[in-house]
Parts: sequence; C-alpha cells; structure tokens
Amino acid sequence: MKYLLLPIAIHVALCVSSIQSLDMDSAKESPCFKIEKTVPLDMEYWANIKTSYYPLMSRLELYGVAVDLLQKDPAEISESELYYDSCIVWKHTNESYYSEGFGGQTREYVAVPKDDKFEVYTMHSVDGKGYSGTAYTTYTDNQTFLFSAACGDDGQMTWSVGTTTPTLPHGTVEKIHEHALSLGFKKEFFTELRYDGCD
Ligand SMILES: *[C@@H]1O[C@H](CO)[C@@H](O)[C@H](O)[C@H]1NC(C)=O
Ligand SMILES: *[C@@H]1O[C@H](CO)[C@@H](O)[C@H](O)[C@H]1NC(C)=O
Repeated sequence: MKYLLLPIAIHVALCVSSIQSLDMDSAKESPCFKIEKTVPLDMEYWANIKTSYYPLMSRLELYGVAVDLLQKDPAEISESELYYDSCIVWKHTNESYYSEGFGGQTREYVAVPKDDKFEVYTMHSVDGKGYSGTAYTTYTDNQTFLFSAACGDDGQMTWSVGTTTPTLPHGTVEKIHEHALSLGFKKEFFTELRYDGCD
C-alpha cells in the first residue's frame, strides 16, 4: 500500500497546483465579435448607485479584473482567493470610477461614453496600463442589473453584469444567462462571484 500511495499523493499535489493559479489562456473564449444591438441606461438612476456588485461574468472578464486590480502576474493569484476572498465591487464617487476588492485594494478607471445613455463606452485604467476596451450595454432592467459585453483591446470578448444587490433572484440569473447565450457567449465560460463571506 505504501508504494501505491506515493504516486497518488504526487498526482493530487500536481493537479491542485495546476488549478490553483489563474490560467488566462484557458479562460479565452472568443475573439471580439460585433454587438448588433445596444440598449440605453437610465443614467439618472445608475449615477446614484455608488456601489455595484459584480456577481456574474465570463471567466476571462473576472480574471482580467482581478489581475488588473492586484497588479500581479496571473500565476501569483489563486483561484480560491479570487472566488472566496476577493469581494470585488465597483464604486464611483463623482468622476472617479474604480474596482475594489482583496481587502481594500483599488484600481481606478475612466469610462468615456460614446452617447448620453452609456450604450457604448470605452474604458481604460487612469494610468493607461492594463485593462482597456469598449463596452456595450445590451440588457438591463434599469433597477437591479445591467449587462455589458466588452471587446478588450487585447482582442478578446467578455461579458459581465453589474448589480445593485449582491445576489439576484434565480429567474433573473436565468434570463441573464439566456441573454449571454443569445449574444454568442458560451456556458462553459460562465462564472460568478459570491459575497456570502464579505463584510
Ligand atoms: C432604461 O432607461 C432608459 C432611459 O430612461 C430608457 O430609454 C430605457 O427604455 C429603459 N430600459 C428599460 C428596460 O426600462
Ligand atoms: C464630489 O463632488 C462634491 C461637489 O462637487 C464635492 O463636495 C465632494 O468633495 C466630491 N467628493 C469626492 C470624493 O471627490
């Protein structure tokens, strides 16, 4: 038995280490594609939402936001830390727009709308490094969630949902997932962030 256990232990250790850090390549879903239809946001409402949660998205989107926020190599970020301890939210105060998570880390961005209802806008970090791309608002109820598809300047397509509460009703999540599929995103890249363990 002793002799059999050793290789199993090594095998388990290798598997664990290979899934522990963020693998950006495995999260790449699709090159950018054209978004045919966008929808307007009620900016009077959304401008008053100072903190939005970030519960549903594609895997590359979540990894990209975490890497940019921590300013670390993806190999240095563990998946369990991201999923269970990051508590990433988006905040805005006047003109400043930033992500916050991993115990108070922040990363500031500039969002430049191409129209007055944020149907299409570009986004980049204030220092011009790291994440930048163009986002398209394609689905919202103007109340609890807004769905954006984004084409990163790295040529990769992602999606994410900003919400006013940490969780959404099951039916809303289903509609959002159907919407993502209708745009051409794939189920195997769906992921989510939970706020159960957050303050
Ligand atoms: C959201 O608000 C905008 C601006 O008021 C409006 O044009 C749009 O129809 C609203 N969408 C929904 C789904 O209520
Ligand atoms: C936001 O703007 C108001 C009015 O212009 C100002 O009093 C306040 O200090 C600003 N807050 C921040 C965090 O910049």
